[in-house]
Amino acid sequence: MKHLLTMAGLTLNEIENILFDAERFSKGEVWKVKEQTFVANLFFEPSTRTRNSFEVAEKKLGLDVLNFSAESSSVQKGETLYDTVRTFESIGVSGVVIRHPENHFFQELVGKVNIPIINAGAGCGEHPTQCLLDLLTIKQEFQTFKDLTVAIIGDIRHSRVAHSNHDALTRFGANVIFSGPKEWQDETGLYVPIDEAIREADVVMMLRIQHERHEGQMGNTKEEYHQAYGLTIEREKMMKPHAIIMHPAPVNRGVEIASELVECERSRIFKQMQNGVFARMAALKRAFECKTVQTQSLSI
Ligand code: CP
Repeated sequence: MKHLLTMAGLTLNEIENILFDAERFSKGEVWKVKEQTFVANLFFEPSTRTRNSFEVAEKKLGLDVLNFSAESSSVQKGETLYDTVRTFESIGVSGVVIRHPENHFFQELVGKVNIPIINAGAGCGEHPTQCLLDLLTIKQEFQTFKDLTVAIIGDIRHSRVAHSNHDALTRFGANVIFSGPKEWQDETGLYVPIDEAIREADVVMMLRIQHERHEGQMGNTKEEYHQAYGLTIEREKMMKPHAIIMHPAPVNRGVEIASELVECERSRIFKQMQNGVFARMAALKRAFECKTVQTQSLSI
């Protein structure tokens, strides 16, 4: 069963294969399922990019898409995640894409359902398809990950993006450094002061403050946070000439990044979103190609 649950669950070879397919999709290559195949997008948390880019990716692959949101479903009557997924499996769905607030939501499903599960963001745990689109964006820029310095800055503790990227980039030989407020640091990696991170990085990846996962109020005002931990106009000038800016979005302009930098020449933020469709097409192809569906001849 070709689940996609965590980056650690993929070998480097598997990641390279997904990136290879994603790159081909970005160049216009076509792969479609041959038979009617249903996929369900089960979102238990809000999303704009992931949900809609999965839907675009699914439709490009010829999949029939069922969209589900917890608020308007029988989850409101107490139905569990397991029973929800079993329901979709029973009515003929061949795979599920799930975003959920629990870090390891998939543990109660694996081995009990017979359809592939794709993690579309799990609490503070992992966000593997975001990582894949980030890897694709970095690879398009630098052709390699080896010896690149990637600075991930902000609310690390609550960031599934930071955790997935740290795992994959480190295994590919990149030097991943973190920076951010002490209260949002965790045990994942090496922390350095923000100005040092910005100066050393080939990739500056800024993160949103995950207010929805915090118990108390933020101690700083937005402006104080921006000055202490944000990518300000002044800090952008400290970046290496070739360095790029990334952010998984949604962006809080003027907080973790100056509004003027969101679409500046160095920014790849909207490129990341574009690549999200191709990375998700590749992840879906991996999930479905070994089932009843077949590969059609590839053509540009
Ligand atoms: N980057 C990301 O996961 O965005 P959404 O929450 O809008 O899906």
